Amino acid sequence: MSAASPLLAVNDLKVSYRVAGLDLPALGFKARHVQAVNGVSLVIEAGDTLGIVGESGCGKSTLARAILGLSPVESGEVHYGGALISPRERLSLARLRGQVAMIFQDPYASLNPRMPIGEALAEVLRVHRKVEPQAIEGRVADLLRLVGLAPQMAQRRPHQMSGGQCQRAGIARALAIEPRLIIADECVAALDVSIQAQILNLLLELQQSMKLALIFISHDLGVVRHLCRRIAIMYLGQVVEEGLTEEVFAAPRHPYTQALLAAVPDTDPDHPLAPQMLRGDPPSPLDLPSGCAFHPRCPHRQDICASGARPTLRSAREGKVACHFDF
Ligand SMILES: Nc1ncnc2c1ncn2[C@@H]1O[C@H](COP(=O)(O)OP(=O)(O)OP(=O)(O)O)[C@@H](O)[C@H]1O
Ligand SMILES: [Mg+2]
Repeated sequence: MSAASPLLAVNDLKVSYRVAGLDLPALGFKARHVQAVNGVSLVIEAGDTLGIVGESGCGKSTLARAILGLSPVESGEVHYGGALISPRERLSLARLRGQVAMIFQDPYASLNPRMPIGEALAEVLRVHRKVEPQAIEGRVADLLRLVGLAPQMAQRRPHQMSGGQCQRAGIARALAIEPRLIIADECVAALDVSIQAQILNLLLELQQSMKLALIFISHDLGVVRHLCRRIAIMYLGQVVEEGLTEEVFAAPRHPYTQALLAAVPDTDPDHPLAPQMLRGDPPSPLDLPSGCAFHPRCPHRQDICASGARPTLRSAREGKVACHFDF
C-alpha cells in the first residue's frame, strides 16, 4: 500500500439498474434504467470518518454496495490503498472485502437466522483465515466482549436476541475481518431510539481505539455531525457538497444542503439559517431533470440551472460544491 494514497478513492462512479423493458436498440426497444449513482467521486483517508447523507432513494446504499462490488457498476473506478479494484477480478475484490466491512440497517436480516452468532463469527474467521483453527473459539469470545456482549451469547440465534444485541453482533462480525474501513449503512435506523445512542457510541469508541476509517450513511444529520469529521451530501445520485462537517454545518454552500440543514431543529442558534424548506419530493431517478438535478426544487434557480451542463464538484473554501453559483 502506497503511503501517499488515500485508503479509499472512488472516481466518477456510476451505477444504473435496469428496471423494465427489453434492451434491443436495433429494434427500437430501449430498457428503462434508474441512474442510482451518477458520477460520484469520494476519498477517505485511513482512520477518518465520512458521513454520507441525503434523502431516501438518492443512492447512498447503492454507492456503498458499489464500493464493495455488490451493485452493478456501469463506469468509474474504486481504488483501495492506491490499487485499482476491478469488479470483474475476484482476487482484487476479495482483497477489498477482506479489509472493508459493511454493517447493514436490519441486523436480523443481515445475520443467518439458523446460525448461532458464535458460529457466524467463527465462519468469518475461518473464511478470512484470521486466526489458527484452535484459536477461533477464544477470538469469538473476544469479539463478543469487544462489542459489549457476554461470550455466552455465542450460543444464541438472532431471534433470541434484542435488536441492539443483534446489531452488536453485526458489528462484531464486521470487526472479525480486522477491517481498516467500515461502511455502516443506516446501522441504527431500525433500533429503538434509546438503543441507538448505545450502538453509535460503541461504533465511535471502536473507530477511535482501532483507528478505523468509517463511512457512515444516515438520514440523521445530528448523528452525522456527532460522529463524522467530514460529510458528503448526496442528491439524486450525485454528491452536491462535501467538506469538513463543522464547516458545512456552519456555512452550507449548496442550496440543497442549506434546505436540509434548515429542516434540522437543533442547528446552532448562533448561526441561524434561512427558514427555507425543501418543497416536494425528489424527481424520479428514472427521468433525471436536465442540467442541475436539484433545479426544479431550488429557490435560487436561474436559466442556466435547467439549460446548462450538470454542475460538477468544484473547490469552494475548504470543501467542494456542485452548483453554478456561490452562496
Ligand atoms: N436492485 C434495484 N433495482 C432497481 N432499482 C433499484 C435497486 N436498488 C435501488 N434502486 C433504486 O436506486 C435508487 C437509489 O436507491 P438506494 O437504495 O441506493 O437509495 P438510498 O439513498 O440508500 O435510500 P434510503 O435512504 O431509502 O436507504 C432508488 O431510486 C431506488 O429505487
Ligand atoms: Mg439505503
